[in-house]
Amino acid sequence: IERIAVLTSGGDAPGMNAAIRSVVRSGIYFGKQMFGISQGYQGMINNEITPLNSKSVSNIVQRGGTILKTARCMAFKTPEGRKTAYENLKHHKIDALIVIGGDGTFTGAEIFSREYNMPVIGIPGTIDNDLFGTDFTIGFDTANNTVIEAIDKIRDTAASHDRLFFVEVMGRDAGHIALWSAIGGGAEAVLIPEKETHIDDLVEKLMVDLKNQKTSSIVIVAEGDHGGGAFKIAEKVKERFNYDTKVSILGHLQRGGSPTSFDRVLASRLGQAAVEGILKGKNRKMVGIISNRIEFTDLTLAIKNQIEVDESLIDLVNILAI
Ligand code: F6P
Repeated sequence: IERIAVLTSGGDAPGMNAAIRSVVRSGIYFGKQMFGISQGYQGMINNEITPLNSKSVSNIVQRGGTILKTARCMAFKTPEGRKTAYENLKHHKIDALIVIGGDGTFTGAEIFSREYNMPVIGIPGTIDNDLFGTDFTIGFDTANNTVIEAIDKIRDTAASHDRLFFVEVMGRDAGHIALWSAIGGGAEAVLIPEKETHIDDLVEKLMVDLKNQKTSSIVIVAEGDHGGGAFKIAEKVKERFNYDTKVSILGHLQRGGSPTSFDRVLASRLGQAAVEGILKGKNRKMVGIISNRIEFTDLTLAIKNQIEVDESLIDLVNILAI
């Protein structure tokens, strides 16, 4: 393997740039020629493939987003799209690929690698922390810090006005950001996609809190929870009892910002390990960190959505909200 290309795909995540930097510089360290593909798989199809040197990745370790840009690409799901992508890689004599992203990114990588016998390693980059084979994905820690900063601010105004706030956080299919930010932000309750949403239980809890002189509350709602989102849940709760209720949807601000130290170090370790892995002949694996050690997991396993929600974290939210 002499020429390695790196891309970012799917939703961006803070720390992706630190990962790109680490991949490029580790590759150069091992004497390899490094290339960047813009806009994820779309750029592979559009032949947006350029050489990267050490200088190309300077001054980015601290930057959110991804300098390579990213996209969710429909054309790569078709055999014709992948064929064009392969021809472009061949034209640039690329021997191996490192893809940074989440489950959609890895699904595409797995198919493409088998179809064209192209070695590929995945690096977990998503704020959702929903991949099997790593304790943490790049961006999760930064997103949590962004969310708790917002919750702290909302808490000030909630307490001043005696209000109930529903704060909706990202996570279409996964409640990890919701759970972690509920604990870190001291929320009174949390609603996540992995669990049924029982409005009766929530109302009962909030009523008990009111009786116990708790005059304001914050409920964290994951985007994908089964109650239909923060606005719908707030409406249902308002029908049941009199509480000045407000909703805040945090949205895409959760995806931006300068990565935390944790995410920068994680991204740097995973970038280096991905390059070393591919040079040692690893293929169709995701590199992750489990119990602080580098581990490689089959891409097919990583994306099977087999992470279970940690019940003890749900219990902790409830225990700390009495
Ligand atoms: O996968 C990351 C994520 O931010 C999810 O939490 C969210 O549901 C989704 O992406 C939003 O995607 P988009 O930016 O395409 O609207």
